[in-house]
Amino acid sequence: MGNVKVAPRKEIKRVGVVGCGQMGGGYAQLCAQKGYQVIISDKTEELLKKGLSAIELRLAESADKDLILSRIHGTTGFQSFSDCDLIIEAVTEKMEAKKKIFTELDRVCPKDIILATNTSVLSILDMAVVTQRPDRILGIHMNPLFFPSAEIIKTIVTSDEALEIARNFGLSLGKGVVVVKDIPGFIVNRLITPLLLSAIRMIETDQASKDDIDILFKSMGWPIGPFGMMDGIGLDTLLFGCNAVYEELKDPQFTPPLLLKKMVTAGWLGIKTGKGFYEYGK
Ligand SMILES: NC(=O)c1ccc[n+]([C@@H]2O[C@H](COP(=O)([O-])OP(=O)(O)OC[C@H]3O[C@@H](n4cnc5c(N)ncnc54)[C@H](O)[C@@H]3O)[C@@H](O)[C@H]2O)c1
Repeated sequence: MGNVKVAPRKEIKRVGVVGCGQMGGGYAQLCAQKGYQVIISDKTEELLKKGLSAIELRLAESADKDLILSRIHGTTGFQSFSDCDLIIEAVTEKMEAKKKIFTELDRVCPKDIILATNTSVLSILDMAVVTQRPDRILGIHMNPLFFPSAEIIKTIVTSDEALEIARNFGLSLGKGVVVVKDIPGFIVNRLITPLLLSAIRMIETDQASKDDIDILFKSMGWPIGPFGMMDGIGLDTLLFGCNAVYEELKDPQFTPPLLLKKMVTAGWLGIKTGKGFYEYGK
């Protein structure tokens, strides 16, 4: 691990987002709505176009649609990220993919900028140590369009200055911020994943129906039931996440139910593919 000591950049005007899926697209949209210039990438032109179209669709009714969209610039490479003041990585929940991206971003980006990850459960320190700036790597975890608060994740080497900049950035997006330790699953997914997996096990063993479980949770004030929530998260993301936490903790609560594995194999990933526990129109 190298570490070139530099004070992290405070002024943020241009935000980079890697990954134009559900979360990356959400970050790009929210940042542009809050006045930031945004550069967003995906692996191919086709994936990028798909993600940008989803943003456009969500903004269809907005009076500021054109202004907001004019702030978002797509790319399939890394070079344009050299102009950004802060970058958020939001690609598929796989450590190897994330490490490659951090290595590449670290190479092309100015040394003073913060590189953040939106990982749901993975060790942020493992991503930090592939860079020359481990003290400027941290987690900003949320679903930008749905969560009112963000978990800001501090590793044991994240600097206080970087943490403060990330906290202010979260506040500028209109979010509450909670600083969290770099533990598997952080707070939200560490607690909620066992519940979600238990709900799958209940339907798998015919102890209850998904509709009844969702109705009861909504009646207790949850905005969405566990199955609706899993479809929103993406069943692949849930599966990668629970496997990763299981690897770290060997806690059987995080072993994936067979039904979850089968659904992911079948490509039933939830809202993003039109079918998960429920079916979705376009
Ligand atoms: N889905 C949620 O509710 C949620 C909430 C908070 C955090 N997260 C985290 O956010 C991240 C993204 O999740 P998502 O739901 O947006 O997934 P997603 O499957 O909707 O999107 C991932 C995107 O990353 C792209 N991608 C993969 N490798 C890439 C690369 N090398 N370069 C550029 N783009 C690449 C994919 O093509 C895809 O468009 C994950 O780490 C996930 O754990 C998800």
